[in-house]
Amino acid sequence: MKMLLTGARIIDPAQNIDSRMDIFLENGKIAKVGVNLSKSSKSKDSDKTTKIIDLTGMILVPGLIDMHTHLREPGYEYKETIASGSAAAVAGGFTSIACMPNTNPINDNRSITEFIRRKAAEAALANVYPVGAISTDSAGLKLTEFWDLKEAGIVALSDDGQPVMNAALMRRAMEYASSLQLPVISHCEDTNLSADGLMNEGYYSTILGLHGIPGVAEEVMIARDILIAEFTGTPVHIAHVSTAGSVRLIRDAKKRGLKVTAETAPHYFTLTDEALQSYDTNFKINPPLRSKQDVVAIKEGLADGTIDVIACDHAPHGRTDKEVEFEYAANGISGLETSLGLSLNLISNKIINWPELIAKMSLNPARILNLTKGTLETGADADITVIDPQVKWTVDVQAFRSRGKNSPFHGRKMQGKAILTIVGGEIKYDDR
Ligand code: DOR
Ligand code: ZN
Repeated sequence: MKMLLTGARIIDPAQNIDSRMDIFLENGKIAKVGVNLSKSSKSKDSDKTTKIIDLTGMILVPGLIDMHTHLREPGYEYKETIASGSAAAVAGGFTSIACMPNTNPINDNRSITEFIRRKAAEAALANVYPVGAISTDSAGLKLTEFWDLKEAGIVALSDDGQPVMNAALMRRAMEYASSLQLPVISHCEDTNLSADGLMNEGYYSTILGLHGIPGVAEEVMIARDILIAEFTGTPVHIAHVSTAGSVRLIRDAKKRGLKVTAETAPHYFTLTDEALQSYDTNFKINPPLRSKQDVVAIKEGLADGTIDVIACDHAPHGRTDKEVEFEYAANGISGLETSLGLSLNLISNKIINWPELIAKMSLNPARILNLTKGTLETGADADITVIDPQVKWTVDVQAFRSRGKNSPFHGRKMQGKAILTIVGGEIKYDDR
């Protein structure tokens, strides 16, 4: 299978490429990136079987990678299946996703990991990389079999959804994981501080009379993990950073040369806790939406490189999980199909530029997860996302491929979206 994509602005942060070029794909790999391939190589590389697609006016980037997705299979298929989540991924422009272990049962042993990989292969849409649990049943008591899980195909370890409250267990996890080159992704939350909180602790929790989750619940755990990383000399990746204090801690740790990386999610630079005034449970997530000052700090962290990655924290839920009293509603936003659109605002608002955005949504997550992806180098897998930066559209949850219709962005006007998603040289989503 040969494909020639012509005329797009090609951005590949790994090779410092940002210019109008053509790209030639062959046998699922990137064969060549260059100027006027359509003319020069027509005789040599491409032939009658080559599919030629004109992408003038479009932006072509290495396939986007979401390193924080919740697929709900096994156990909660009404919220999302591996197939529906994969379909949502490619529709959102993601060619690869890493899925968190908080399914039922938890992905804490190789049979679950193998099940996820088998289902993902059957769906044959996005590359799906399972994340294994740090502790058995994510209960925080006993480490899982990291080596066995790695052999089965996990790319990282996390008890996401649950923090690892026991610092000694986290220390052992980071030491053992690092010897296996497996990143540890930490959901930072001190559950004694977050307790029965439902939203950010601050002005709005006070006037709404809802129990608050203070920013410090996140920050003390980030501080702890940074200290453990320093003590053990191992890396740690901080999930869904939401507060100004967290950004400051991570910035300082990086300045001191520690191997700390971090992600945030689009809702943390787009929305504030003011939105909770509606009591709309679609705004209920964990960590919660924070204050205006926190949003400013998150944007600064994105701009100065403190925050390496934009990850969706795609957390699909069913109607019965969300259409209940606020207190009982599940946490989470269905994010795969709105992440790129929301993140493009960072460019139009001049917070970061195109190559920086693509690095945060492709190259950096690939590097953290040790995937040989996130680049358009010759010989790399032909995973490609084509973005129409001009197209205007309105978010409609009923049009989501995801089973999770729980988005606070329903009805929001967006500019720019993925119009072509290619995985391993095959078109998996085409909205041209
Ligand atoms: O909002 C959230 N949803 N935060 C988490 O930590 C877990 C996630 C989920 O699994 O729904
Ligand atoms: Zn989490």
